Amino acid sequence: MQIGKQAELVVVAPATANLLAKAAYGLADDLLTNTLLTAHCPVIMFPAMHTEMWEHPATRANVATLRDRGVLVVDPDSGRLTGFDSGPGRLPEPEAIAWIVQAALASRDLKPDLRGRHIVVSGGGTRERLDPVRHIGNRSSGRQAMSLAAAAVARGARVSLIRGDVKVPNAAGIDIVDALTADEMLDAARTLAESADAVIMAAAIADFRAETLPDAKIKKSDSSTLNLNLVHNPDVLATLVRERWGDSPLLVGFAAETGDDNGTWLEHAEAKFAAKGCDIMIANPVGHNRGFGTEHNEAVMLLGGGVTEEVPGTSKIELSHRILDTIADRLI
Ligand code: CTP
Repeated sequence: MQIGKQAELVVVAPATANLLAKAAYGLADDLLTNTLLTAHCPVIMFPAMHTEMWEHPATRANVATLRDRGVLVVDPDSGRLTGFDSGPGRLPEPEAIAWIVQAALASRDLKPDLRGRHIVVSGGGTRERLDPVRHIGNRSSGRQAMSLAAAAVARGARVSLIRGDVKVPNAAGIDIVDALTADEMLDAARTLAESADAVIMAAAIADFRAETLPDAKIKKSDSSTLNLNLVHNPDVLATLVRERWGDSPLLVGFAAETGDDNGTWLEHAEAKFAAKGCDIMIANPVGHNRGFGTEHNEAVMLLGGGVTEEVPGTSKIELSHRILDTIADRLI
């Protein structure tokens, strides 16, 4: 009784088909189900079972009942199950579960306000091939994108991640589309945008790629310089803006900027917002030990019409909730 009353969050992992059924019907014949009935806090369940059980109409109905009641039931992974079978029903890895728990705890007032919404997030850097063994990459870790994906799952959204070169573990409950080059990201973004309510472009996409791809390694020559011919990559965000249709998704961009002789980082971000034409732009300063790969981010949200909202030094997961607050408001 006290456990449920005092809890800030209840996490059930694994949640079996049997537990889902008992929770849906409000049974209370053991400590766990008693705790669930006395808890006032958010409840997250990570189902794990054989595919047949997960897809059974009885389980589908129990999951729907629990979700209608505000319980966050995170879709299981697809993969090897406890027997020789494989398919949807696998318990996500501990790190994947931890992402969602962390995202839930970081919310000031966790609600399934994105339930029924499809949020697409791109993240990580691109890898543009130079030859069979080399590529041009960048320092992006994908942490901001994974934080956004986890926070959106915690708020009940269906989430698709267009995953570039990501250096952090995956969050649970997301659909992943791997896309390592700008061209692959554009294909994935165009396809997913058709069913999306919002597309958040957090990926660090290379602006250039090699003009030609040799079949053999580029050899070290005696010359002291190496000339590479690079050609422009497509701009994914600008393309989505250009191809907008009637009920096309909300388009959110990121501008990671440094200040220079021509302006401050924020002035550069404002110019980029105007040039890209997206609905919202998240501007943040980067530099050595600032922005890339770190847990924290400071940002200014550019909301259009000259309206801005400052998000002073905060965790990437908290920033994600602020961004999703704005998206949820716009989607009403
Ligand atoms: N972006 C994109 N396609 C590209 C490059 C960037 O969709 N080829 C998106 C990023 O995901 C981000 C926004 O555009 O949401 C701004 O990215 P950034 O790299 O800061 O801007 P660039 O347009 O590449 O400008 P520059 O590098 O010259 O500052």
